[in-house]
Amino acid sequence: VTRRAQRFVMALSFVAGCTGTPAANDAANGGAVLPDSGAPPLLVDGGHPPIDAGQPDTGSADAGHASGPVFEPPEQRPDLFDGPALLSEAGLYSDLAAGTLAAGVRPYEPLAQLWADTAEKARWLWLPEGTQIDTSDMDDWVFPVGTKAFKEFARDGVRIETRLVWKRGEGDWPMVAYLWNPEQTEAYAAPLGAIDAAGTAHDVPDATRCIECHQGRADRLLGPTALMLSHQGSGLKLADLSAEGRLSDPPVAPLVLPGDAATQQALGYLHANCGHCHDPERPNADRQISVYFWQRADALAMLEDTVTYRSLVTDKGSPLWIDAVLQRMADRGGPQQMPPLGTEAVDDAGLALVEALMAQLRADVPGLPPPVAGTGSCAGTEAVFQIFTDAGCRSSFCHGSEQGGLSFGSAEELHAAMVGVDASGEACADVGLKRVDPGAPEQSLLLLKLRPGPPCGKIMSPAESLTDAQIQTVSDWIAGCVQPGE
Ligand code: HEC
Ligand code: HEC
Repeated sequence: VTRRAQRFVMALSFVAGCTGTPAANDAANGGAVLPDSGAPPLLVDGGHPPIDAGQPDTGSADAGHASGPVFEPPEQRPDLFDGPALLSEAGLYSDLAAGTLAAGVRPYEPLAQLWADTAEKARWLWLPEGTQIDTSDMDDWVFPVGTKAFKEFARDGVRIETRLVWKRGEGDWPMVAYLWNPEQTEAYAAPLGAIDAAGTAHDVPDATRCIECHQGRADRLLGPTALMLSHQGSGLKLADLSAEGRLSDPPVAPLVLPGDAATQQALGYLHANCGHCHDPERPNADRQISVYFWQRADALAMLEDTVTYRSLVTDKGSPLWIDAVLQRMADRGGPQQMPPLGTEAVDDAGLALVEALMAQLRADVPGLPPPVAGTGSCAGTEAVFQIFTDAGCRSSFCHGSEQGGLSFGSAEELHAAMVGVDASGEACADVGLKRVDPGAPEQSLLLLKLRPGPPCGKIMSPAESLTDAQIQTVSDWIAGCVQPGE
């Protein structure tokens, strides 16, 4: 964040102390005109004239006022975002000052929302007139060129930012957040984002980070999907798009998540908050991820069919990952935090929903064998030592010195450092696993961390160079370890 941007944040912080700000619009409940369209612009410092929204490029309000910081529009970075610099020109409003939406802009609400700490949100979709969404793949809608989606974040009734995702051309998706000025008369593209915007704890991501979540779909939009628009609530829904002929292949029936209301909510929550990254079909999927939450339209009949059940119960068959889901959702600021960005506060209500679902799944997963006390003895440790040596695991930046918290200069030392030793280290200390649990490869962290998506911490980097056969050797070695006393 540049100095200019920092000053901008200061200016907003200053204003956030004012009271009596107009209520945020709540267009999700309304029609084309926002409820507060007649509200006068908010005055800076309770008496200064508002910034002239017609002169945004001059940079600031009347700088002659010595009594307080002034609003300065954020730095533009055409290399990061080359779309409209002003929200008033971005296609959401025909008259931003009056709060009048542009023709054809439709408010909508997804079935489940992304937790954004305590921000209030509103969303709109605009499809070019006379166009259809290609829904031949119900899980991957292809939007017409020109499509725009907007999402507004407000705190205590004050609009902080409005985000744009725009399909400008095939494969051309400009994305940016627009920061509202204190008077709420204009919002400015903020390609560099903002920390603690408007004096709140709300961070606005810079334009390079949008993609981290939004490339979850080839066509970028995460909320306007068949499942997320399949509900009875307010705003534009699947049924409306279908009735209006906007879907090339309308679904024959609404999409409904399985289970009772609590199960549906938990599955929806995980889909909206985690699924855009935790999806095996995701373009450029992160190979460290191995549990999945993005539901598929054709796998919703029963809980057992869902992506989440199959991933956590059928495929993993161990409670470790179920516990990891809850641990990571309850983490903020640590290396394990999930989602890894966009939130600084735990969502207690969301966590409670997911806890109930995880308890249900856990009942279907066999438990781990009871932990073994003490160390055991293993045969064939030399072969495993050789594998790790060849993979560079003993280099000084890894485990050759104490630096990695582990050290082994020989097969004997490897055995001593691993077998029967409790996992330590920030990420994995609480998981209650041993590095090597004699006879139990599937609860040995050494093996779990050689595979994608360990239940805690990261995959060990040299694992990328190990062959499946080598990993199997490690697994067999652990399986063949004799437990103490046997
Ligand atoms: C932490 C992941 C994450 C990041 C980072 C993120 N988004 Fe989103 N965004 C989502 C999810 C999930 C939704 C859908 C759920 C919802 O609307 O609550 C969404 C919804 C939206 C929408 C409404 C249309 C849609 O795709 O559903 C817009 C517009 C949007 N985001 C723009 C942006 C922009 C611009 C940025 C970067 C400045 C950004 N987002 C960064 C996850 C993210
Ligand atoms: C912006 C992308 C992103 C989002 C959103 C996200 N995760 Fe993750 N998650 C990752 C990545 C990358 C990893 C692998 C690296 C690591 O272990 O931290 C991961 C790892 C995990 C793991 C370890 C098992 C595995 O699959 O690797 C769990 C459990 C997990 N996340 C749960 C969640 C939950 C629950 C949510 C939603 C509340 C969530 N994640 C949201 C990117 C994301």
